[in-house]
Amino acid sequence: MGKTLIILKPDAIQRRLLGKLISRFEEKGFQIIGLKMIQISDALARKHYAIHEGKDFFEPLIRYMTSSPVIVMILKGKNVVEIARKMMGFAFGSKAEAGTIRGDYAVSNRFNLIHGSDSPASAEKEISIFFKKEELFEYNPTDLQWIYDMSTGDIV
Ligand code: PPS
Repeated sequence: MGKTLIILKPDAIQRRLLGKLISRFEEKGFQIIGLKMIQISDALARKHYAIHEGKDFFEPLIRYMTSSPVIVMILKGKNVVEIARKMMGFAFGSKAEAGTIRGDYAVSNRFNLIHGSDSPASAEKEISIFFKKEELFEYNPTDLQWIYDMSTGDIV
């Protein structure tokens, strides 16, 4: 089972899309093991997006991410990093496939509603930036045996 960090960005909150976006991940079968509303500070945004410093979109991205509160959440599931990215769709709303979150709810090439970690290693790093250990909840979901076939001892 892997973990990923999801950020529901300022436009997701302002456009009242939180319920719909969270539902997509719940309905898919992922487990939410951490969730909170925060205001991302300028320093935190610069740390999170440090790899993009110097790119032409960096400063607008920092302004966008600090413009309003966000929801940060941790999803748990098999191959969750890869599957969540597929569910989010291409980074630009104008080009994202219909059926993906950005394809269904975004048209902008900047206000793209959602962030998801791009690898298990980034997920681990990002989770440690946004969450304290005690804010993660490792509980047993009662429906897990209906989300995956675990009858052979593997998670299929
Ligand atoms: S890159 O340059 O290919 O590494 O960029 P990419 O991985 O596609 O995106 C990194 C994050 O920057 C956001 N992004 C942009 N924001 C504003 N304007 C433009 N032109 C732009 N291009 C990329 C993109 O949404 C990514 O943010 P997150 O939060 O990770 O989705």
